[in-house]
Amino acid sequence: MNQFEDLLIRFEKHFNQRHFPADPSTLYDPGEYFLSLGGKRVRPVMALMGNELFDDLHPDAFALASAVELFHNFTLIHDDIMDKAPLRRGKPTVHAKYGEPTALLSGDVMLVAAYEQLNRIDGHYAKKIIQIFNRTASEVCEGQQLDMDFEKSDKVSFDAYLNMISLKTSVLLAATLQMGAVLGGAGEDNQKHLYEFGRKLGLAFQVQDDYLDAFGDPEKFGKQIGGDIIANKKTFLLLHALETVQGVQREELLRQLNSDGSDKVERVVAIFRDCGVDAWAMELKERYINQAENHLEEVAVLNNRKQPLRQLSSLLVHREK
Ligand code: IPE
Ligand code: IPE
Ligand code: MG
Ligand code: MG
Ligand code: MG
Repeated sequence: MNQFEDLLIRFEKHFNQRHFPADPSTLYDPGEYFLSLGGKRVRPVMALMGNELFDDLHPDAFALASAVELFHNFTLIHDDIMDKAPLRRGKPTVHAKYGEPTALLSGDVMLVAAYEQLNRIDGHYAKKIIQIFNRTASEVCEGQQLDMDFEKSDKVSFDAYLNMISLKTSVLLAATLQMGAVLGGAGEDNQKHLYEFGRKLGLAFQVQDDYLDAFGDPEKFGKQIGGDIIANKKTFLLLHALETVQGVQREELLRQLNSDGSDKVERVVAIFRDCGVDAWAMELKERYINQAENHLEEVAVLNNRKQPLRQLSSLLVHREK
């Protein structure tokens, strides 16, 4: 068993229980439903890994890991409303199943549950951790707003895209490692490098997320294929295509951006394929993984302690769901 699986099992043991009261079930059942669908649980494992990089697991590491996973699930419930997504983890999204007003509230109350977990953390670490957590939560909101703003813009630069995905996705992965490191007693310099490792890894993670949205195997992916295309999301696939395609294909791509025809996904995916996004995705992921690795190198602990984090990077960029 690798380190990821080992920590995952330990986390699940702690996390797989009811999180909410029974009443009113119309509010709490949707949250329980969503949490029981699983997900990869990447972030809680990262919280534990961030801690273990420096020291044995602190007893409060599981509260931190739970807080981060609850927060992540809250963002997903709201994200699925924003993205009009019908499917997640192979099952109907919360708003598709229970309606938007309930999905909003069950997300809200999940955020509160996340803070309740944070509140369990030893006072010696809590202030620093909550400070990191709060800054990150605001950044995720900023990223999510930019993501929606970009749907309506046809002038999104690659740098603007990177900033947006860094905010909506990377900073949570980065901060999770850092908060784990705080519990492990890491110094400021080590925390910074670990954060940057997580941030770069997060860019590669979102590149893979964008890629799977168009090219994932529907059996494994668990989300609607082409959701980003339908919503005109400015993914790296679309940015790359807009930069590369010429002539009639360019006209076709621009026409599709203004259409909501039933063949939109199929047609845009075909254009993506033609302009070699596969190779571009590979190159991008490698670039960010290398940059991440450089920061990991700078973390001043014995090399073999870093092995689980190296495994993690490879797992995250090769994932199929
Ligand atoms: C999805 O996160 C949202 C992104 C930041 C891309 P995950 O891919 O980690 O989702 P689950 O928790 O495994 O379902
Ligand atoms: C979601 O990004 C990021 C957050 C939830 C904060 P996406 O919208 O790309 O994530 P998926 O593809 O729905 O999981
Ligand atoms: Mg989404
Ligand atoms: Mg989204
Ligand atoms: Mg996505």
